[in-house]
Order: sequence, then C-alpha cells, then structure tokens
Amino acid sequence: MALDYGPPVVAQPFLPPPPPYQPAPGSEPGPLQVRNMEAHDVDFVARMLVEAFSDKFEHAVGKSRMEGAVKQSASSLGRSRNVWHRYRIAMYEGRQAGAMALRFHGDSAEEDFQCGEACSYLGCWGTRGLICLGCAVDGTSVPMGQCYVDHIGVDASFRGRGIGKMLMDRADYDARQHGCTSIFLWVKQSNRAVHLYERQGYGITETVNGSCFMRCALGSADFYKMQKQL
Ligand SMILES: CC(C)(COP(=O)(O)OP(=O)(O)OC[C@H]1O[C@@H](n2cnc3c(N)ncnc32)[C@H](O)[C@@H]1OP(=O)(O)O)[C@@H](O)C(=O)NCCC(=O)NCCS
Repeated sequence: MALDYGPPVVAQPFLPPPPPYQPAPGSEPGPLQVRNMEAHDVDFVARMLVEAFSDKFEHAVGKSRMEGAVKQSASSLGRSRNVWHRYRIAMYEGRQAGAMALRFHGDSAEEDFQCGEACSYLGCWGTRGLICLGCAVDGTSVPMGQCYVDHIGVDASFRGRGIGKMLMDRADYDARQHGCTSIFLWVKQSNRAVHLYERQGYGITETVNGSCFMRCALGSADFYKMQKQL
C-alpha cells in the first residue's frame, strides 16, 4: 500500500532573524523624552547654547553682554529654519531640559547671521568677538559615514540626572539610522564632560594644544577630539 506523506516539503533558504526592534532613546514613556526641535524651542536652544558654553561666550562678548548674546542667538536661529533639523531637545517631565546639535556629511546649511543685528545687541566689540568665535568653531568638516556632535548642553538645574547620557544615546541611534559607522566630538581637555563621553564609549583620537588664534577666539586652545565606532 502506498503511504501518503502529503505535499513535498520544500527546503527554505536560511534567513537570519530580523534585528531586534530598537526604539529611539527618549521615545519610550517616562519622565525623559527626546524629540526634534520645533519653532517654540528657538529661545530655549539659544539660551542653552550661551549658558552651557558661558566660558566661550563670556570670553567672546564680555560678561555684561551675555543677555545680548542670547537675544542675538535666538533671533538668528529663529530665521534659520534650514538648521533646525540638527537639533534634538530633551524634555524632563514636560519641561525643556537640554539640547544637542548633530551634523552629518554634506550638511552645509548655515545660520543667518546678520552683522547689523549683532551690533545692536552686542555693540561693535561684542560682535567682533562673536565673529571670531564663529570662525573658530565652524570649521569642522564631517567626513562621509561619520556623525559630528556639534554641541550638547543640559540646563544647569537638570544636570546629573542622565539627560546628557540620554542625548548621547540618541546621537548614536540617529547616526546609525543615517548609516554612519562612527561619531565624534571636540571637547576642552579640562571639561568634566570627558568622563561622560568615556563612559559612552568614546576614546581620545587627537589632542590639540592649539594656536594663538584658537586661544584668542575661544579663550582656550587645549582640546580633545573624541570618537566612537558604532
Ligand atoms: C555635559 C552635559 C551635557 C552633561 O549633561 P548631564 O545631564 O549633566 O549628564 P549626565 O547626568 O548624563 O551625566 C553626568 C556627567 O555629565 C558631566 N557633567 C556634569 N556636570 C557637568 C558640568 N557642569 N560641566 C561639564 N560636564 C558635566 C560629567 O561627566 C558627569 O559625570 P561625572 O559626575 O562622573 O563627572 C552638561 O553637564 C552640560 O551642559 N555641561 C555644560 C556644557 C558642556 O560642557 N557641554 C559639553 C561640551 S563638549
């Protein structure tokens, strides 16, 4: 008697399992959220930039002009929608707590800086300092396949709660989404944030004990380039 084994089984080619689904850091429910920049974040991002980098801004425009630097920065960022895509905003319990700017290869958008406007907020002396600062920090080119953490700042009242780490995790995620294989940043050698970056897996790949121009423009010339493979 012939046995009925049913239809022949066709061997399936081996397929690797799909990679585990990874939600973007800051997208899960909880007190800490990370989202893209929106129009109502302009003032916060400007204040964050100036306050988080107060040593550089004080050196550039003078201590008495810091509020003018925030206003100038907000005004120019407000006009420059073409750079908003770079920013991620960290929210803590619904309040703006931190900001980070990422740049990828080929992103050459520039903020709309207007000298006359800067003069009205900062005077001639402060504007000159700001232009020098801009020249010294804007020169980083981003090689193909890499992501540059242009700047990261957390409001002083929110520091030490893991917000910086969450933003750095988000930077890794976004960089991978863009197909990058490494991510890098520049940091002042004496900045405590070096510890955070080391914990996040970054290593020092370049030490710069820079030129007189850097010292004059930034108030410091001693920086590390730190990089991480993704
Ligand atoms: C660096 C910074 C973004 C970290 O944000 P955060 O939410 O406090 O970070 P986390 O809570 O995830 O991690 C704590 C780590 O942040 C760093 N950090 C904390 N306060 C800092 C400060 N005032 N300045 C610099 N780094 C600081 C330290 O590495 C700290 O770890 P440690 O206590 O072991 O030294 C934030 O402190 C900041 O805005 N600092 C001023 C701006 C700045 O220096 N930005 C980096 C320039 S490259």
